[in-house]
Amino acid sequence: MSASLATVAYIGATILFILSLGGLSNQETARRGNLYGMIGMSLAVLATIFGPQVTAEGIPMIVGSVLVGAIIGLYAARKVQMTQMPELVALMHSMVGMAAALVGYATYVDPEASKNLDGAAHAIHAGEIYIGIFIGAVTFSGSVAAFGKLSGRIGGSPLLLPARHWLNLLGLIAVVYFGREFMNAHTVQDGMVPLVIMTAIALLFGIHMVMAIGGADMPVVVSMLNSYSGWAAAATGFMLSNDLLIVIGALVGSSGAILSYIMCNAMNRSFISVIAGGFGTTAAAPKPTGEAAEPQGEVSPILAAETAEMLRDAKNVIIVPGYGMAVAQAQHTVFEITKTLRDKGVNVRFGIHPVAGRMPGHMNVLLAEAKVPYDIVFEMDELNDDFPDTDVAIVIGANDIVNPAAQDDPTSPIAGMPVLEVWKARTSIVMKRSMASGYAGVDNPLFYKDNNRMLFGDAKKMLDEVLLALKA
Ligand code: TAP
Repeated sequence: MSASLATVAYIGATILFILSLGGLSNQETARRGNLYGMIGMSLAVLATIFGPQVTAEGIPMIVGSVLVGAIIGLYAARKVQMTQMPELVALMHSMVGMAAALVGYATYVDPEASKNLDGAAHAIHAGEIYIGIFIGAVTFSGSVAAFGKLSGRIGGSPLLLPARHWLNLLGLIAVVYFGREFMNAHTVQDGMVPLVIMTAIALLFGIHMVMAIGGADMPVVVSMLNSYSGWAAAATGFMLSNDLLIVIGALVGSSGAILSYIMCNAMNRSFISVIAGGFGTTAAAPKPTGEAAEPQGEVSPILAAETAEMLRDAKNVIIVPGYGMAVAQAQHTVFEITKTLRDKGVNVRFGIHPVAGRMPGHMNVLLAEAKVPYDIVFEMDELNDDFPDTDVAIVIGANDIVNPAAQDDPTSPIAGMPVLEVWKARTSIVMKRSMASGYAGVDNPLFYKDNNRMLFGDAKKMLDEVLLALKA
């Protein structure tokens, strides 16, 4: 393939990636967005393999690596549960980080890469390598630590070393110092020492940064690492003089940063305070997820048949799904109940919190899979004012996202996080298996409110019973 044809293919792939990102921003166009992304990536890979930068001898090695990667990726994608997605994503970001660091080292030791460079061009080349390896190493170790936390292999509570901000600052000064040494090195051997020391500092920095962040802020961390992996890819693009990689890396880097910002807003946390870490270390430190909270009053249980009766008598119903619906895989029964109620003339709508579940858009994906019509699925802000006019608000396996303590208790670890105000409905019904806390590990005063009922049990089992009673 000629260089100009490869460039045309790269431009086509870039346009497809931009269309893909645009499509993914809305659930009605998300499928199309994915398709654009897949076509764009196929085009990019083919144009690279058959482009001018790859020689014929290199092709078997690339095809072999792609096959091995594809088999592992396919196996992981088929095996992973929806609820394990964030940890898989974190693991994948670590691969991007590792690739960027390894490409950096390979470029540095390759005499061809810097053959005709002198003066400013040489300095820029060395700078690209140094920064690329730094971002790659931070992304790699940070993502591995995030994977460990999200998969429960490492404890979720923040690790706070004494004077940790000073340690970070010291690390940064050392990185700048060794950067100067690296830039001034005349031989590869001379430059290798500061490069390896900087890599070690960057690896420690990545681990330290993520370990200091507590459970409830982890979604932002994953999205932030997504952004880092984009910048790592862009850095690789500079090292390999590959324009497509630079553009795609910048797209991923900036979209990840925007997503982190949106998530911080949704949780009412400032980005800086998330990165600085330490969430949940105050007197009101949260209990680990799933642990029973101290009872704060009496709860009123309800049966599935009574729930069905309430729903049948209601005019307006809002369903708030959360992580428990995903665990129970109850979305199909939720759809059946919605359909039955709508056929009876009940106005049923869904309220989706931006961080419900365990990944952005988690609930939207599940509801779309169950064929719930998009026009009855609303964002939190779109329907929070409608709860006072709602007869029944039914909470399915959600906890933190409907916790009134976020508004009422300034000492709560989730104070300030916007929540769905289900307690303002005439009656709220919370469906969960026990009194255990949610992801943030905090008690939920909603459970003890006079107008709240608790429907205890697995969400799928309980909803099946509700559906049966509704149809009876
Ligand atoms: P959570 O607060 O985690 O609450 C989920 C509740 O579901 C639990 O209290 C649990 O109670 C219940 N549950 C679990 N399995 C169930 C089952 N089979 N049937 C019925 N109930 C079940 O979830 P949420 O309200 O969706 O809030 C999300 C939380 O996760 C937020 O704190 C958010 O910051 C965090 N987070 C979000 C993301 C993203 S990006 N969405 C990523 C990581 C973390 P029982 O054990 O009593 O059943």
